[in-house]
Amino acid sequence: MSTYVHGLKLQPDMIIGPDGDLWFGGCNLVALAERFGTPLYVINEEVIRRNCERYRQAASQYPHGFSIAYASKAFLCQAMCRIIADMGLELDVVSLGELYTALSSGFPAERIIFHGVNRKQEELEIAVEQGVGRIVVDNFFEIEKLARLASEKQQEVNLLIRIASGVHADTHEYVQTSITNSKFGFNIADLPQVFDLCQSQRLLKVKGFHSHTGSQILSLHPFTENLRVMLQLLAQWQEKYPELRELNIGGGLGSYYTFDDQELSIEAYVSGIIGAAEKATQELGIAMPRLTVEPGRSIINEAGLTLYRVGGTKVIPGVRKYVFVDGSMADNIRPALYGSHYEAALANRALEPATETVAVAGRCCESGDMIVWETNLPVTTSGDVLVVGRTGAYTYSMASNYNRLPRSAVVLVGAGRAELIVRAEAWEEVTRFDLIPEHLR
Ligand code: LLP
Repeated sequence: MSTYVHGLKLQPDMIIGPDGDLWFGGCNLVALAERFGTPLYVINEEVIRRNCERYRQAASQYPHGFSIAYASKAFLCQAMCRIIADMGLELDVVSLGELYTALSSGFPAERIIFHGVNRKQEELEIAVEQGVGRIVVDNFFEIEKLARLASEKQQEVNLLIRIASGVHADTHEYVQTSITNSKFGFNIADLPQVFDLCQSQRLLKVKGFHSHTGSQILSLHPFTENLRVMLQLLAQWQEKYPELRELNIGGGLGSYYTFDDQELSIEAYVSGIIGAAEKATQELGIAMPRLTVEPGRSIINEAGLTLYRVGGTKVIPGVRKYVFVDGSMADNIRPALYGSHYEAALANRALEPATETVAVAGRCCESGDMIVWETNLPVTTSGDVLVVGRTGAYTYSMASNYNRLPRSAVVLVGAGRAELIVRAEAWEEVTRFDLIPEHLR
């Protein structure tokens, strides 16, 4: 069987079913669109579990402790927390919203790593009270707030110091995070002052460093380079503070979106990191630290897709044919924000050949509201079910109510089961937070 259906390379656990429709996780996608409505995010539990397991297996080759913390910003809801907890991973959160989602689903606080830039007092207070495993700090303001909280509550707080290592990754400018002019992380030159401040606070326990290179990175070099720089730093500071034994190098492993993307496998990524860590620690003459990575996209992206219902078309002779769908930049901002590309197919006509190249346009009032700039499809008819592939990461989690569109539902599939894990907002709910002041009534 061809690995492509129309413009879409089949995702793991996706097949053309006996009825000629596309199936995912043992469920007919046309039937899912009918049953749950569109736009619909579909997330495959088996694929998530398989990717978590691949990370765990690969990390088990490192005998000094190698944790995998799922970066919840890529996709989070309570059901997702249950899967991640069940797979034995840790969780990276960046706001009280993500932290609350995790804790309310029963995720163990000690397995949570709390990141953030300029968190509110309330957010840090709850994190300390709940005994979150690691709090990552990247500015003096937050260290001071945490010092006060630790002493008020007479509770130890375990910290990682986030560093902008200066390593450059070849990815979209908006998702490069370790470059020196990044808003994230301390500069290396800040460290003497950081340690002076932390050492003066008995209850602040600095466990090590954190440095996240960037996102959607498909080559090993930026990761190993970041690791090398960070290990050098660790070696330097261990001379004074031997208790620094952890290095968290963030996430960032990329995912296949279109045929332009040369995939780097989870196994190659993890073993590359282990190899680089062994080499650098030997050269530096230090003990192997405890390692952590924080993958988001590489766990969830290929586990997800989005279903849309096709409406009309607009043909501009000699230029382009637009196929309109019932979704938009409100359910997937990535093409508009980063110029991202996706692949697509018609789920209800999987056995028919693709005969034309079209652009799939969203319904919002913006020219940049495109879902797919170019894909091959059969000639569409209104009512067809369009699948946009590999949309598990940073779609639902970045969704908005732009144009007062209600947010779409998320359904979890696997082994033939399909269950809602986030229900759709109703049209009436778009006004749920609106208030009309007395003088306007
Ligand atoms: N750890 C930290 C500290 C991060 O900032 C991020 C992502 C990750 C882990 C996870 O990175 P991943 O493995 O998913 O690449 N909205 C953008 C991506 C922003 C990523 C922000 N930080 C997009 O749609 O491409």
